[in-house]
Amino acid sequence: MQRRHFLRSSAAATASRLLRATEPAPAVVDLTAARNWVNLGGRLVELLTYNGRVPGPRIDLRPGQDVKIRLRNGLTEPTNLHFHGLHLAPSPGPDDAFLRIPPGDEHEYRFTLPLNHPGGTFWYHPHVHGYSAGQVAGGLAGAIVVRSDLETELGVADIPERVVFLQDFDLLPNGTLAAPSVSDVIQGREGPLVAASGETMPELAIRQDGLLRLRVINGSSSRFYNLSLEEHSFVVIGVDGGLVRSPFEAETIALTPGERIELLVRGNRNPGSYRFRSLPYARTRSGMGSLRLPASTSIELGRIVYTGGEGRSSPIPAQLGSVSPLTNPRLLRRFVLGQSMGGLGLGMVGTRPGMMAFTINGLGFDMDRIDTQVQLGETEDWEFLNSTAMDHPMHVHTNAFQIVGPGGTAAPAWKDTVLVKAGERTRVRTRFEDFTGLSVYHCHILDHEDQGMMGTLRIET
Ligand code: C2O
Ligand code: CU
Ligand code: CU
Repeated sequence: MQRRHFLRSSAAATASRLLRATEPAPAVVDLTAARNWVNLGGRLVELLTYNGRVPGPRIDLRPGQDVKIRLRNGLTEPTNLHFHGLHLAPSPGPDDAFLRIPPGDEHEYRFTLPLNHPGGTFWYHPHVHGYSAGQVAGGLAGAIVVRSDLETELGVADIPERVVFLQDFDLLPNGTLAAPSVSDVIQGREGPLVAASGETMPELAIRQDGLLRLRVINGSSSRFYNLSLEEHSFVVIGVDGGLVRSPFEAETIALTPGERIELLVRGNRNPGSYRFRSLPYARTRSGMGSLRLPASTSIELGRIVYTGGEGRSSPIPAQLGSVSPLTNPRLLRRFVLGQSMGGLGLGMVGTRPGMMAFTINGLGFDMDRIDTQVQLGETEDWEFLNSTAMDHPMHVHTNAFQIVGPGGTAAPAWKDTVLVKAGERTRVRTRFEDFTGLSVYHCHILDHEDQGMMGTLRIET
């Protein structure tokens, strides 16, 4: 074992971590963001790509690993990277939502994933205010999978798995990206072409009597998915920030933009092919002025296809990890999610002053204003109150949270994005750990984020 590894881990490590023979080799990733023609389900389409691919390359990481990611901006507008869900230092650290890499320029991201980072399914995407929705809806996003030793100990690491990276695209007949209308941007743009990990309706193989682990990521800019699998229920084993304590069954899973879910499918039906679908989900409750969402329909995302027998029939562990509940919040903050029609009719892209269609506590985003100042090491409860007719999935950078209001799992689990339904409220509990700096929280309907539904969070000692 290298001495540096030993020193870093000695404070909090478990025996098994200390026994790991080698430090993982550094992860080195080169990404180029650029417009490119790609083959999507047999159709040639022009999207925004990392390295010519949609989604971008999957990044596999291990806790304690050194990571170096070089991003070249081949777009015609500024971009950057955000590591959604990873516990990393915010601005001016590596997970800097305020950084702008100009067209033609490049930036090297360097960080060490904390040694105690939970394993789980995360993702990366651009985060320049005013450009996030357009770039993510254009295809710029990719999966990050963190594999921890805990999964090996639990025996879940060797279950066959597939990453299902959900994206939707709005394309013109000539295969180029359509420009959103004003009402698209207010509702949050959706596209009719839905892709799972860059394929349309992929076949996901499962062995008869075996298990298949699906790491599902909602990488769409605005579309919600309501997952269901013909004749099967799901066993939920993980949420945004890692494994849940006790796996539980679910027939359908609502997955908002930004959220991830880890599911086990059991191959316990008759051999065959079963539709993996997104059932209709209405994320706007009632008419808002004259604007209404078109009724959402069922979408086929892929198929689960049984292959030969001899699947793994070993049981799913009853207990997966132990997430200890956060306790003793120092205070309760309230965030009222609002909307003003002031932005209607204006150009909706960019950050021009006065364009505040979506607000938090009455204010549109201003990067030069500190909205929320907190102290490192403190625990707080945050309540989101949605005063609008649209659902808003609220996301916080840097530190995960536990849902303590309606909508949480029975046992504590690490989340970083939470659905706040139209007209409803929910409460989360978080602790500001390890990192100081300037972070953000926002609605993950990225059109809403671009139109102001974002606040700054300063974490200080
Ligand atoms: Cu995935 Cu601030 O976002
Ligand atoms: Cu994020
Ligand atoms: Cu929103």
